[in-house]
Amino acid sequence: MTLDDFFQQSRHQVDQALTACLPPVDQSPQQLHQAMAYAALGGGKRIRPALVRAAAHTFGGSDQAAMPAAVAVELIHAYSLVHDDLPAMDDDDLRRGQPTCHVAFDEATAILAGDALQALAFQVLGETVAIAAETRLQMVCLLSRAVGHGGMVGGQAMDLAATAMTPDAAQLEKIHRLKTGALIEASLKLGALSAGITDPQALTSLSHFGSAIGLAFQVKDDILDVEGSTQVIGKPQGSDYHQHKLTYPALLGLTGARLRLQELHDEARSSLDGHRGDSRLLLEIADFVVQRTY
Ligand code: IPE
Ligand code: IPE
Ligand code: MG
Ligand code: MG
Ligand code: MG
Repeated sequence: MTLDDFFQQSRHQVDQALTACLPPVDQSPQQLHQAMAYAALGGGKRIRPALVRAAAHTFGGSDQAAMPAAVAVELIHAYSLVHDDLPAMDDDDLRRGQPTCHVAFDEATAILAGDALQALAFQVLGETVAIAAETRLQMVCLLSRAVGHGGMVGGQAMDLAATAMTPDAAQLEKIHRLKTGALIEASLKLGALSAGITDPQALTSLSHFGSAIGLAFQVKDDILDVEGSTQVIGKPQGSDYHQHKLTYPALLGLTGARLRLQELHDEARSSLDGHRGDSRLLLEIADFVVQRTY
């Protein structure tokens, strides 16, 4: 199966599962439910669910067991984008080629839709019967640690505080690892857990891989803010630049940012040397992360 086919399959499966778990849009409170569906179903690469599935597959796990975690990480991601775009944060009006949630609805609805998507992520993971209760608890703990104050949200807070600050390489790396890397690394580990892998050794190489592609994903996102086009990336090109965001191109220039991306690509590839399962799919995903144009 090609990587394109694998991504397409992930998108299809996760879209179906998301539709099934989201509240009906014609049920009260309708505006909230419509905003949740708008944010969760409106396209996107679905790379985090693909990572959950890919990690599960490398260990022989099933899609059925991987799907609750795949849905949960995409729900968390969707919520994070809704809040990230708010006027109080990045103040962007375009996402996935459509008006952002607070533009299509209103700010209060967007905040609440984000809150509800986050809660739904943990509900989906906690309530699934496809996975043993002990593993589910491990998964809930892992995901909550990755996206809370010590992970994604902490990174978002540091990202806002760093705007217009004197560039500092160590600080920038930390921000990117937290705001974006933590959820990407967690997606891989959740996939492994769903396949019944608890051996810490098996999780170590996957974790190193996730840490490298997680940072690479945000470095590339920063690069696309400079050299991408609004039409292809589906969000306003140049937004970071106009808001004086601390980014890799701002810190190192475009050439320096591309070199850093290459280093992380190499690191991701070599981290899989000791991987117990079949790593071909993961290697192709690493290539996609650095070569993507959207
Ligand atoms: C955008 O994530 C936000 C970052 C963490 C860089 P994606 O590039 O995965 O966004 P979608 O889901 O494909 O729209
Ligand atoms: C977002 O980073 C990270 C999140 C946790 C949502 P960005 O602010 O760079 O993401 P985009 O460029 O708006 O998608
Ligand atoms: Mg942001
Ligand atoms: Mg943003
Ligand atoms: Mg960005």
